[in-house]
Parts: sequence; structure tokens; C-alpha cells
Amino acid sequence: MKHIALIGLIALLPAACGGGDAGPKLDPATVAAGKKLFVEKGCVLCHGEKGDGDTPTGKALTPPPRNYTDAKWQASVTDDHIKKVVKEGGAANGLSPTMAAYPDTTDQQLTELVAFIRSVKK
Ligand code: HEC
Repeated sequence: MKHIALIGLIALLPAACGGGDAGPKLDPATVAAGKKLFVEKGCVLCHGEKGDGDTPTGKALTPPPRNYTDAKWQASVTDDHIKKVVKEGGAANGLSPTMAAYPDTTDQQLTELVAFIRSVKK
């Protein structure tokens, strides 16, 4: 019995360590839809196409938009937090009021925006 348990453990190890990146895989179609929304809703003006906030508007703001490519920032926020900030705006969540609220964003759109924001992580 002991042997069987050990073999089972060894067989599981590569699966647990594989992939390299933690977290669920992002669906490319959802990410693409999110990127489209990011442009259509004007998020790119401040947050930039790469999500790093490196835009003329972004750089003129105090505080500047967060750098979404930063793995530390990515790890510090939940998907729900991102959705909440987009829907309610910065001011309602203790962030800069220059981050506007987008209250008419649907749940599906929020999921797509989160997927895009997650995809820019370096
Ligand atoms: C007028 C400039 C501007 C626009 C347009 C804008 N943002 Fe922001 N956003 C900011 C600023 C400034 C902050 C606050 C600083 C920060 O934490 O990034 C912020 C914060 C955020 C945060 C929270 C970051 C955190 O650390 O909690 C998210 C998520 C976000 N924006 C997503 C979006 C999305 C999605 C859109 C489009 C629907 C958008 N923003 C449009 C300027 C903008």
C-alpha cells in the first residue's frame, strides 16, 4: 500500500508544478473581447494599450494609473476588486476619483475586461 501511495504522489507532481504560471488559463477570445472594450470605452487613454499606464494622459495624472504589467500589483488584487472599481469608480473604492465609474458595464463585459487586464501581466 505504501508503495502505491508514493507512486501516486510522484505521478501527481509534474501536474502540480507544470504550466509555470499560477492561476487559471485565460481564454484568448475573452482576452481579445476585453481588449476591444478597453479601447471602445476609452480605458486606453489613461491605462494604455499595454495596460502599463504609459500614455500622455496617464502620465499627467496624480496618482498615475496603476501599471497592470506589474506581477506584484496583479497578485494584490482579486478579479472581484477589479470589477468593483470599474463599475463603481475609483472614489467609491478609496482610489483616485479620476478613475471614472462605468456603471452600465455588464457582467460579461467585466469578465472580459478582467481577462484583458490579467493578460498584460509580465
Ligand atoms: C481618465 C483616466 C482613466 C480612464 C479613462 C480609466 N481609468 Fe482606470 N484608473 C485611472 C486612475 C488614475 C486610477 C487610480 C490609480 C490606480 O490605482 O491605477 C485607475 C484605477 C483603475 C483600476 C484599479 C487599480 C487598483 O489598483 O485597484 C482598474 C481595475 C481600472 N482603473 C480599470 C479601468 C478600466 C477597465 C477602464 C475603462 C472601462 C478605466 N480604468 C478607465 C485612470 C483612468
